[in-house]
Amino acid sequence: MTETIPKPPKGLSAYAGNWLGLLGIIVTMCSLLALLLLIAFDIFVGFSRPYLGVLIYVILPAIVFAGLLLIGAGVWYQRRLRRKPGYKPGLPHIDLNNPRHRRNLILTVCIGLVFLLFSAYGSYRAYHVTESVAFCGLLCHQVMEPVHTTYLNSPHARVACTKCHIGPGASWFVRAKISGLRQVYAVLTDSYPRPIPVPVENLRPARETCEQCHWPEKFYGATELQRPHYLADEDNTPFDIRMMIKVGGATPLHGPIGGIHWHMAVGNDIEYRATDASRQTIPWVRATNRATGKVTVYHTADGAPAEGAAQPEPRRMDCVDCHNRPTHIFQSPNEALNVALWLNRVDASIPSIKLNASNALLQSAKAKSRTEGVRQIDELISAKYPDYQDPLKIRQAVAETQNIYRNNFFPEMKTTWQVRPDNIGHRSWPGCFRCHDGEHVSTTGETLSNDCNACHTIISQALGDKPATTSLAGLPFEHPGGDVPGILCTLCHAGSP
Ligand code: HEC
Ligand code: HEC
Ligand code: HEC
Ligand code: HEC
Ligand code: HEC
Ligand code: HEC
Repeated sequence: MTETIPKPPKGLSAYAGNWLGLLGIIVTMCSLLALLLLIAFDIFVGFSRPYLGVLIYVILPAIVFAGLLLIGAGVWYQRRLRRKPGYKPGLPHIDLNNPRHRRNLILTVCIGLVFLLFSAYGSYRAYHVTESVAFCGLLCHQVMEPVHTTYLNSPHARVACTKCHIGPGASWFVRAKISGLRQVYAVLTDSYPRPIPVPVENLRPARETCEQCHWPEKFYGATELQRPHYLADEDNTPFDIRMMIKVGGATPLHGPIGGIHWHMAVGNDIEYRATDASRQTIPWVRATNRATGKVTVYHTADGAPAEGAAQPEPRRMDCVDCHNRPTHIFQSPNEALNVALWLNRVDASIPSIKLNASNALLQSAKAKSRTEGVRQIDELISAKYPDYQDPLKIRQAVAETQNIYRNNFFPEMKTTWQVRPDNIGHRSWPGCFRCHDGEHVSTTGETLSNDCNACHTIISQALGDKPATTSLAGLPFEHPGGDVPGILCTLCHAGSP
C-alpha cells in the first residue's frame, strides 16, 4: 500500500508553512511595525498617556511573541508534512562555503541582534511601566479605583505606589510580581473580593518602605493640628479646635526621646496580639526596652494569656499600625463636610445643611452604583429645600456633596470609610484607644496612659460666637456634645454627626 504524501505548497506559504505560519507572519509583521514606530515615537517625542506605555511595552511585545510562536508552529507542521517515509530527524547542516547558507546566517544573526537590542530596551521600559502609578492604578480600573482616587487626593499623590508596596531590592520585587499574576487572574475571572480585604497581610514591613523617606530619628517636638467642626444643628454652629500633637522624638540628636513616635524609637520594640483580622481589638501588648532588657506586658482584664495555651505570634508594631491610611484616605461624611463648610464650598448659612448633606451621604452609601448614588444625593438634598430663597446655593451644596461622594464612596467595589478603619486618633475609630483606653494594665499595676494631655494639648477651642479660650499650657476639652467622662468616643461617633 502506498502512502499519499500531500504536496508541499509553493510561494510564500512554502516558507510560512501553511495558513498557520502565514497568519503568524502577518501578525508579527504588523505588530512589529507598530511596535517599532511607537518605540521610535516614544524615544524622540515621548508619550504623556499612561495607557500607551502599557500598550507599547507589555501588550504589543506579547502579540509579536504570539506571532512568532504561530510561525514556529507553522514551520513545525510543514516539516511534518514534508517528511518522507524513512525520514530520520537530525540537525540542519550549515555549510559556510555555500553562499546561500552564508547569506542566511548573516541575515539571521543581524535580525537576531536588532531583535535582542529592542527586547533589551523593551524589557527595561516594561519594568518601568509595570512599576508606574498608571499601571498599578488604572489598568484594572474598577478594582483599583478606590485606592487610586484616594491616593491622588492624598499627601502622597506624587509617591509611586511601588515605593510603599514593593520598596527597594529584588526579592520583594519578585514577590510582588508573583502575587501580581495571581491578581491578574482574579481580575480576568472576576473572582476578586469586594471590598478588597484590609489590612494587607503581606505588606512589606513599614520600616523598609516608609523609612526610606521619613525616618524615626527625624521626629521631634509637637505639630499644630487645626480641625474645623460644624455641629449638626440648624445654625451649623462652628466648633474650632487647635491642638499641639506631641509627635515626639526617637533619638536624642534633636531633643528628648518621647512622645508619639517613641513607639518607633530604635531602642525599643512594641508587639501586640489582636483578636480580630482587622486588628481593631488588642487585649495584649508587650514593650521591650532593648538597652535595659526590661519587658513590660500590658493587658486588659480578659486579655491575659491563658496558662499553657499556645499563643499566636505577636505582631511587631510599625508605622502602618497607626498610619494605616497614609494615602488611601476614605473620608467619612462628617470629616468631608467639616472641610467643605470650612472652605465655604458648602455655604454654612443654609439652615441644617450639615445634617441634611450628611444624611444624604449616609443613605447614598448604600447605593448600587455611582450614578445612582449621585442622583440620590441631588434628590435627598433638594427635597429639603423646596422654596429656599437662593436656589443657586443649594445647587452648589448639592454639587459639592456629589463631589465628596465621587472622591470617597465606591459602590461598585463596596468601599467607603465604613470598611476602612483609620488608626490615627480615637474619635471615629478606636485608633490609639485600642491600647491607651485606660483598661490596659501591666503586671506591676501601671496603666497604659489615657491622660488627655499625654498625646496632645488643646491650645484653643471656640464654640459658635463665644470667644475662643486659649492657653499654651493646655485646656480641658469642652465637648460640644456635652460631658462624656470616661466614655470611648467611638460609642457615639462613627463618621456621622
Ligand atoms: C505612602 C505609601 C503608599 C502609597 C504611595 C500607596 N499605598 Fe497602597 N497602601 C498603603 C498602606 C500602608 C496600605 C495598607 C492599609 C492596611 O493594611 O490597612 C495600602 C493598601 C492598599 C490596598 C489595599 C486596599 C485598601 O484600601 O487599603 C491597595 C489595593 C493599594 N494599597 C494599592 C495602591 C495603589 C494602586 C497605589 C498607587 C496608585 C498605592 N497603593 C499607593 C500605602 C501606600
Ligand atoms: C518616596 C518617599 C515617601 C515614602 C516612601 C513615604 N512617604 Fe510619607 N510623605 C512623603 C512626602 C513627599 C510627603 C508630603 C510632605 C509634606 O506634605 O510636607 C509625605 C507625607 C506624609 C505624612 C504627613 C501627611 C500630612 O497629612 O501632612 C505622613 C503621616 C506620612 N507621609 C506617612 C508615611 C507612611 C506611613 C509611609 C509608609 C507606608 C510613607 N509616608 C511613605 C514621602 C514619602
Ligand atoms: C455620649 C456620646 C458621645 C461621646 C462618648 C462623645 N461624643 Fe462627641 N459629640 C456627641 C454629640 C451628641 C455631639 C454633637 C453632635 C452635633 O451636633 O454635631 C458631639 C460633637 C463632637 C464634636 C464636634 C462636632 C463634629 O462632629 O465634628 C467633636 C470634635 C467631638 N464630639 C469629639 C469627641 C471626642 C474626641 C470624644 C471622645 C473623647 C467624644 N466626642 C465622645 C456625642 C458624643
Ligand atoms: C503610635 C502611633 C504612630 C506610629 C507607630 C507612627 N506614627 Fe507617625 N504620627 C502619629 C501621629 C498621631 C501623628 C500626628 C499627625 C496626625 O495626628 O495626623 C504622626 C505624624 C507623622 C508624620 C507627620 C510629621 C509631623 O511632624 O507632623 C509623619 C511623616 C509620620 N508620622 C510618619 C511616620 C512613620 C514613617 C512611622 C514609622 C517609622 C510612624 N509615623 C509611626 C502616630 C504614629
Ligand atoms: C498596640 C498598642 C498601642 C497602640 C495602638 C498605641 N500605643 Fe502608644 N504606647 C503603647 C505602649 C506599650 C507604650 C509604652 C508604655 C511604657 O511602657 O512606657 C506607649 C506609649 C505611648 C506614649 C508615651 C511615650 C513616652 O513619652 O514615654 C505616647 C505619647 C503614646 N503612646 C501615644 C500613642 C498614640 C498617639 C497612639 C495612636 C496614634 C498610640 N500611642 C497607639 C502602646 C500602644
Ligand atoms: C494615646 C494618645 C491620646 C490620648 C490619651 C488622647 N488623645 Fe485625643 N487625639 C490623639 C490623636 C493622635 C489625635 C489626632 C487625630 C487626628 O490626626 O485626627 C487626637 C485628637 C483629638 C481631638 C480632635 C478630634 C477631632 O476630630 O478633631 C480631640 C477633641 C481629642 N483628641 C480629645 C481627647 C480627650 C478629651 C482625651 C482624654 C479622654 C484624649 N483626646 C486622649 C491622641 C490621644
